[in-house]
Parts: sequence; structure tokens; C-alpha cells
Amino acid sequence: MNSGTGGATDKPIEITMVASEMFPFAKSGGLGDVIGALPPALGRMGHQVCVYLPAYRAVLNEYDPGSPAQVADVFAEARYEIFSLEHEGVSVRLVGADDLFDRAGFYGDARGAFPDNAERFARFARGALSHMERERAHPSIIHCHDWQSALVPPLLKYRRTGDEKWSGVSTVFTIHNLAYQGRFHPDDFAHTCLPDEAMGLDGLEFHGDLNFMKGGILFSDVFSTVSERYAQEMLTEEQGEGLEGVVVFRKDALFGIMNGIDDAVWNPESDPHIPARFSSARPEAKAACKAALQKELGLDLDAEGPLCVVVSRLAHQKGIDLILETMDELMGLGVSLAVLGTGEEDLEQGLAEAASAHPGRVAFAPAYDEALSHRMYAGGDVLLMPSRYEPSGLNQLYAMRYGALPYVRRVGGLADSVISSPTPEADSDTGFHFDAFEPADFLTGMERICRVFLEQGLWRMMMRNAMEKDSGWDGVAPRYVELYEKAMRPQPR
Ligand code: ADP
Ligand code: GLC
Repeated sequence: MNSGTGGATDKPIEITMVASEMFPFAKSGGLGDVIGALPPALGRMGHQVCVYLPAYRAVLNEYDPGSPAQVADVFAEARYEIFSLEHEGVSVRLVGADDLFDRAGFYGDARGAFPDNAERFARFARGALSHMERERAHPSIIHCHDWQSALVPPLLKYRRTGDEKWSGVSTVFTIHNLAYQGRFHPDDFAHTCLPDEAMGLDGLEFHGDLNFMKGGILFSDVFSTVSERYAQEMLTEEQGEGLEGVVVFRKDALFGIMNGIDDAVWNPESDPHIPARFSSARPEAKAACKAALQKELGLDLDAEGPLCVVVSRLAHQKGIDLILETMDELMGLGVSLAVLGTGEEDLEQGLAEAASAHPGRVAFAPAYDEALSHRMYAGGDVLLMPSRYEPSGLNQLYAMRYGALPYVRRVGGLADSVISSPTPEADSDTGFHFDAFEPADFLTGMERICRVFLEQGLWRMMMRNAMEKDSGWDGVAPRYVELYEKAMRPQPR
């Protein structure tokens, strides 16, 4: 794994991102936040950035981007409609492909993942590259994210050999979550329009299946993930999700860059979604946000312990089962709990049962609600994030900005971004950690939090540290520029 990326230059770079989410247009998790904020931050540095996004029905309905350009596929017999929008100085192109994106849901619906996802995202990659080629837009960097755009690097590799204009274009592939790989039946390979040789052991073949993410890792010039610690973890059998061999093979081209936050959207001093504004210098109004949240969710106002909040996809990754398993002990410690999230049925059911078993102490909002998420961070004393693994995590960064101290498992980006020293707490602490994914370890940390919560001076100091931590994208974007410069130089293979 690489730790340094070398010096940045001031020369503007033409950067094209290809991704399946972008806030505010389409967001289901942190990827949307990253693509909504990193391109404008690169734009502010003087670089020219464009983003390709699927033309989801919800985006077309809400943003009305006008008439599309008609584009023929350069790889096969197919056509695309390319719509255009703008977001904070960034041009956004929406790739419409027949009815593949014109439906409710990004990746699936109540019945599960869409059965034609291989075709959908193969067409997305082909459509984006076809449009670039037709427009004669050959950026210096194409930056792809996760499996949904992972076919771009292999498609480009083969395109480069036949077409000179592509030879100066370098690719960067960022992994936001190694567990979601885009693994499909080998027959789906036909949708990729890659030559047969690309479906070999040193290509997209993975235990007999087709694996999009493997293509992104193998064929990009450099690849990265969203924290330094997760970059290390991806190399191991425990966290490598079966792809560790491939990641190790290319480890000299691997970098870890911790995510930032959009501090215009996530700012308790100006946030339109919260009932009272506050800052690290004037934190008093946070108490009003807490009371309003308790009232909104039907929680007791006179609870003595901290109000713990969770804002999360309810997925195995996030370790919500550990909270359910320790619910009685948590109640015994005097904490209150508010959870906002949707996802796996058993977790939703467990949380609903906990809420009815502990009225006034546990609240569960089974929804995806952007505005409520802001009120949760603003009103919470503690954010719980007991993730099994966490490539970066943004929730803990938002929570810190809003003075809710994160209680996180010491993994991935959670370990890299939350400062917690062994007892006694140090002057620089911004939250709390636990290590083993075990009820006993989790509860020991919770007991400590309840003790510190009663020490008002110490708690306030930690809140101030957390709120003053600078996590803005303007500090992170230059690291991506270094990465792009690295990609533009030949890499070891
Ligand atoms: P992941 O991408 O793995 O879900 P992150 O911490 O990177 O995790 O990002 C999660 C993002 O999704 C944050 O912006 C968080 O506020 C948001 N989020 C998660 N669940 C919900 C929900 N139910 N309602 C609103 N926002 C949510
Ligand atoms: C993924 C990861 C999360 C990360 C986000 C954005 O969804 O699970 O940790 O913050 O991508 O990079």
C-alpha cells in the first residue's frame, strides 16, 4: 500500500467522474455525498470536472433536464439519451439507456436487486464512454466509483489500443465498499462488449462468475479506497471479501484517502433543517435541538443518561444487531435511543419491538429522511456506529460537526477519524472506541460514556474538539489531485 502521493502541481486537470449516485440528485448512502461534494471541491481548485450519472426516473422527474442528446453506442448496436444538468459549477450528464434506469429504485426494489443489473451498469459504462467519444471529450482522468462504474477501466483499456485519442486518458478507481462487487452469471459477460480474453483469471472472471469490481481493480491506472486503514484492511483475508488476492496483486497502485464532508450542507450554524442553530463557540442551543428531537420522536424529556442516535442503512455491515442484543443492558445504563434507518427486515422488526417494549426510551423511525437525519445529529449526545467494517463512514463526521460524540468500533475510517485515548480521556479526544464485536466490549465502552457524560466539563471539551475538527472537502480534494497526477504517470504492473 502507498502512503504518499508526491507533490501537487497547479495545472488544471480535466476530470470526468462516473458514478451511480450524486447528492442532491440520487443518494442512498455515503457514495452520493462524496460525489455531490468532491467534484465541486475540485472545481474550486480550478480543475474542470464533469460527472456521468444514470438517468434514474426520480432525477428526470424532479429536475426536468430538458431534451436529451441522442448518442449511438460505440461498442455495439445500442442507443443512449444523454441529459444535462449543472451542480455547483460541475456539468452533470445523465445516461438514459432504454428503460433500464427509467424505473423506481436505483439498484433494486422491494423484491430485491434488479435481475438486469449487469446489463444496466454495463450499458451505463458503455453509454458514458460512447458519449465522451462522440463529443470528442477525452479528459485527462476518468475517475470511477464502486462496481457500478467499474467496467469503464477495462473498456477503456481495450479502446485505447484501437483509438489514439484515448491513449492519453488515465483511470482511477475508488472502492467505497469492497463487499458490493457486482458479481453476476458468466453469461452476462456479453453485456460488457469486452473481448473474450477479458473474462480470464487475470480479468473479470471470479470463481466462474463475472465480477465487475475485479475489472476496476485490475484495469485502472491507480485505485484507492476511502480511508488509509481500510486500504490496509482490504489486503487481509478477514476484510478482503474474497478479492484480497487481487488487491494484494495491485497494492503498489493502492491509496487510501479519508472522505471529507460538505461543510456548507452540514453546518449547525446555518442548517435550515434544525430547530435552533449552534456552534462550538455557542453550543447552548444544542439543548433545544435535543428537546425538540425527543418531542418529535416521543422520547421522555427527563431522561438522565445520554441520548444515543443511529442514522444508518440497516445492513449487516453496520452492526445494529449488537445494539439489539444489548438493549436491556443499555436501558439499565439509563441511555435513550433513537434510530433512523431502513433495510434488513429482521433488524427493522427488532428495532420496532424494542421501541414498543421501551416506550419513551427507544424510538425507531423506519424511513429514509434527509431532514430528520440532520435533526438526529443536532439533537443526539452520542452517535452509535458499531460497524463490523467501515471503509470510511460519514455519519461520524457529521455527528462530530453537530457535537454528538461518536461511539464507534475501531475499524476502517472510524478508527482513522475518531480520536479516543485509553482512560483517562485526553485533551484531544473527539469520541469513543471499542474493539471486539462482542456485547461485553460494547457495553464496557457504553458504561464509560455514561460516566463521562456526567462530567460536564470533560463532555463539553470533547464536544468542542469534535465540532472544531476540520473535515471539509477543501482539505481532502488536493489529495485526489495528487492521486490523479500519480495516475497520469506510468504505474508498475
Ligand atoms: P454508507 O455509505 O455505508 O451507508 P456513510 O456513513 O458513508 O455510510 O454514509 C451514510 C449516509 O447516508 C449519510 O449521509 C447518512 O446521513 C445517510 N443516511 C443513512 N441512512 C439514512 C436515513 N435513513 N435517512 C437519511 N439519511 C440516511
Ligand atoms: C460506502 C461505505 C462508507 C463510506 C461511503 C462513502 O458506502 O460503506 O463507509 O463512507 O461508501 O465513501
